[in-house]
Amino acid sequence: MNIHILEKEFFALYGKGSVNVYFAPGRVNLIGEHIDYNGGEVFPCAISMGTYLLIRERADNTINLASLNFSYRGEYKLNDISKDGDEWVNYPLGVLKLLYGEGHKFRGADIMLYGDLPNGAGLSSSASVEVVTAFAIADLYGINITNRDIALLAQRAENEFVGVNCGIMDQFAVAMCRANSAIRLDCNTLEYTYVPVELNGCSIVIANTNKKRELADSKYNERRGECELALKAISKYIDAGHLCDITTDTFERYKQHIDNKLLRDRAEHVVYENNRVVEACKALVDNNIVEFGKLMNESHDSLRDLYEVTGDELDIMVEESRRCDGVVGSRMTGAGFGGCTVSVVKRESINSFIATVKDKYTCRTGLKPEFYVVEPDDGVKKIIT
Ligand code: GLA
Repeated sequence: MNIHILEKEFFALYGKGSVNVYFAPGRVNLIGEHIDYNGGEVFPCAISMGTYLLIRERADNTINLASLNFSYRGEYKLNDISKDGDEWVNYPLGVLKLLYGEGHKFRGADIMLYGDLPNGAGLSSSASVEVVTAFAIADLYGINITNRDIALLAQRAENEFVGVNCGIMDQFAVAMCRANSAIRLDCNTLEYTYVPVELNGCSIVIANTNKKRELADSKYNERRGECELALKAISKYIDAGHLCDITTDTFERYKQHIDNKLLRDRAEHVVYENNRVVEACKALVDNNIVEFGKLMNESHDSLRDLYEVTGDELDIMVEESRRCDGVVGSRMTGAGFGGCTVSVVKRESINSFIATVKDKYTCRTGLKPEFYVVEPDDGVKKIIT
């Protein structure tokens, strides 16, 4: 991205003068889906696409918000922030309201955002906006807050202000990831380790189905509710605070106590997916990419058959991807119901992979997909002052 072009746009909006530039990435989850709100482990990495934020401090308490991606703009007072319809501004506004409400000392700012992530494609464009906003304000005004706490605040903003009941994975990945690694995060304790992503001559390829995620938020909340009911049923017999506290062996012994088949299936996905994350990290450390790919495939199949969050487009994309030479594993990533898949593909096969899958997918769905070859990248950072 050419930062000078962004600066020019900023000056055109707010006049010439000083400007700070920040960037927060999006993320791709390699494995561990619908696990974060069940208290288990996830394994995402940051990608090089994300959100740029340009900011200049103000002497008063006015916040001006503009974006190069959307025409809607807003002017707000820090002491009087409330939700603004269904507009994009709600993501930065939620974060600003919480930061201000917690008593952090800062004044207003002129802010302009530009994102190169596809929106609503499961690559965490919203977490990217939330985290970069909190990080920029904190840096600009010398607020003492860690990236971990920025992630927690951004998640709360999304839960309480925007009204999406997401877990911690996206905000944590966007705030904490490091280049060349994925982060293995225990979503219950928030303990984490960085695991180097060395894929033995393979790369990570994201495929965007370009299927709009319809009713994604309500279905997401429905899955959360189903997990809670499954946990309630089984925890009458075993001691478990979260579904992910249950090992696969214990689950097999007690699963019949979850009478409802649908709830049992949801829980089965969660318990086995959590286990797959542990196995996948082990496989990566052992340099066993074939095993890593096999676990990715199992993850998708479980999300399709037991958790039912894939849908035709994601299933077709994965099916066609797995048919290609040089593909080690392929699965949906993020919440599902449309959005993106992630595949591990041998480098020499990437071009033919993209050409073939594009053709086959368009033929079967009528939709035009997009592909991004990505490397694990850093979390949120300052670019220039
Ligand atoms: C969305 C949510 C995350 C997580 C994933 C599914 O990305 O924001 O918290 O639950 O779905 O793994």
